[in-house]
Amino acid sequence: MPLVTTKDMFERAYNGGYAIGAFNVNNMEIVQGITEAARELNAPLILQVSKGARKYASHTYLIKLVEAALEETGLPIALHLDHGDSYELCKSCIDGGFTSVMIDASSKPLEENIAITKKVVEYAHDNGVVVEAELGTLAGIEDEVKVKSEDSSYTRPEDVQEFVERTGCDSLAIAIGTSHGAYKFKPGTNPQLRFDILEDVQKRLPGFPIVLHGSSSVPQYLVEKINKYGGNMPGAIGVPEDQLRRASQMAVCKINIDSDLRLAMTASIREYMYLHPDKFDPREYLRPAREAIKELVSHKIKDVLGCDGKA
Ligand code: G3H
Ligand code: 13P
Ligand code: ZN
Repeated sequence: MPLVTTKDMFERAYNGGYAIGAFNVNNMEIVQGITEAARELNAPLILQVSKGARKYASHTYLIKLVEAALEETGLPIALHLDHGDSYELCKSCIDGGFTSVMIDASSKPLEENIAITKKVVEYAHDNGVVVEAELGTLAGIEDEVKVKSEDSSYTRPEDVQEFVERTGCDSLAIAIGTSHGAYKFKPGTNPQLRFDILEDVQKRLPGFPIVLHGSSSVPQYLVEKINKYGGNMPGAIGVPEDQLRRASQMAVCKINIDSDLRLAMTASIREYMYLHPDKFDPREYLRPAREAIKELVSHKIKDVLGCDGKA
């Protein structure tokens, strides 16, 4: 099966009350861990590539890895550009075989966000590719995505209808309290997503697929493992999984997870290196790391997203 867009996936997810996992990929072991979990559970999948991942691994290697995953699994897989920050980057990914792109102009003024999103949508649709846009700004710091918490803002439901109509985007990422990275909420606080905003958006855009970024839940056993084996992560708190489950039963059709994969992989490698200081064959520590990613993704598919058996 060739790569698919997210169109059919989202329609079925919306009507079925579940969400599709969008997992960030940077290398072969990550692609294999994710796709093996999805294959075993017969789950549809979005593999996403950030600007930083593309810089790290190169467009060609990532495309070829995803093509290998398609061949090995036979699953419906969409290949998505995560946080495209310019028309040129989106165009390059569309020309290079991606089936979905995100144009993230959420930090720009509304009119500017609309103008650039519309331009990307026109080019993407002419080429059979779908577009995710963003309204509202998530906090968090990663390689290529940096927003201070004082510059973040919730999505204004009163803007969404006009934004979608004027841009023609196919899905919309909104800000309801999630954020990028492992340090989303202060330890000791009670994280609470703004379901009132999600409900209001859903009412204004019936049937339209909504996306949640920054949706890692930062499992504490992984943070503890990292610290046990020589790491030094201060209190890191993620999005409670029951709230993600609730969102996926509503209009949220795509849930983005990257940090949890990083934690799973790092915890596994740290443990291996600590317990086997004499080993130096990368296959020996990357095999359990790949398995740790697979376990984590299996859990997300079954217990959080609810998309098992939906391929
Ligand atoms: O939301 C951003 C993704 O987690 C990608 O992060 O830019 O460090 O690859 P990155
Ligand atoms: P996390 O940092 O919560 O994994 O978010 C990933 C993301 O939103 C990728 O676009
Ligand atoms: Zn994101």
